[in-house]
Amino acid sequence: MFRQEKVSLAPFTWDQAQQYLDWVNQEEVAHWLTRALPVTPFEHQRWYESLILRSDAVVFSVLNNQDGAYLGNVWLWGVHSLHRSAELRILLGPQAKGKGFGTDAVRGLLRFAFQDLNLNKVYLYVLANNVAAVKTFEKAGFVKEGTLRQEFFVAGKYQDAYRMAAHRG
Ligand SMILES: CC(C)(COP(=O)(O)OP(=O)(O)OC[C@H]1O[C@@H](n2cnc3c(N)ncnc32)[C@H](O)[C@@H]1OP(=O)(O)O)[C@@H](O)C(=O)NCCC(=O)NCCS
Repeated sequence: MFRQEKVSLAPFTWDQAQQYLDWVNQEEVAHWLTRALPVTPFEHQRWYESLILRSDAVVFSVLNNQDGAYLGNVWLWGVHSLHRSAELRILLGPQAKGKGFGTDAVRGLLRFAFQDLNLNKVYLYVLANNVAAVKTFEKAGFVKEGTLRQEFFVAGKYQDAYRMAAHRG
């Protein structure tokens, strides 16, 4: 367990994954994750198993330090053994948004990535109009590396995305 100021990063349990499935099928959440199709329970179980078991992924639950409540997840994907890089993904439940938990969770994951996993670079992809996410990532130390024009087809139109990154040095 990794304790930050507002949240702690803890193992992602199967019970928590049931709550995650509910969130990911909500329209607004699916939108920001650039998903078009609903997730079935079977698909969700396969996703959970592969995320937990993959050697190139590390997933954490985000818990509220005040009451231990499960707020969402933050994880690293595609950890590369040579380049020492990985992709960050994050999802907080709708109730948890806008209270500083996201910034604290991203900072915690970066600390883990650089100090414990010996990574050199953490990158991510975010819709350019996801104002809350872009601001959260910038507050946590990410900078924009470039704009990917019409990268994702979301809500009936092609939308730009930013690639952002944070480095250890
Ligand atoms: C994106 C996400 C991780 C942000 O976490 P959060 O806890 O809501 O964000 P924070 O409370 O830490 O806010 C960080 C900054 O963004 C600002 N912000 C938050 N929501 C905002 C909004 N809707 N519009 C503008 N700014 C916003 C905050 O004011 C804060 O800046 P400040 O400290 O200068 O005031 C979270 O909302 C989430 O999981 N969203 C759904 C999934 C998603 O979009 N994931 C990213 C896909 S790449």
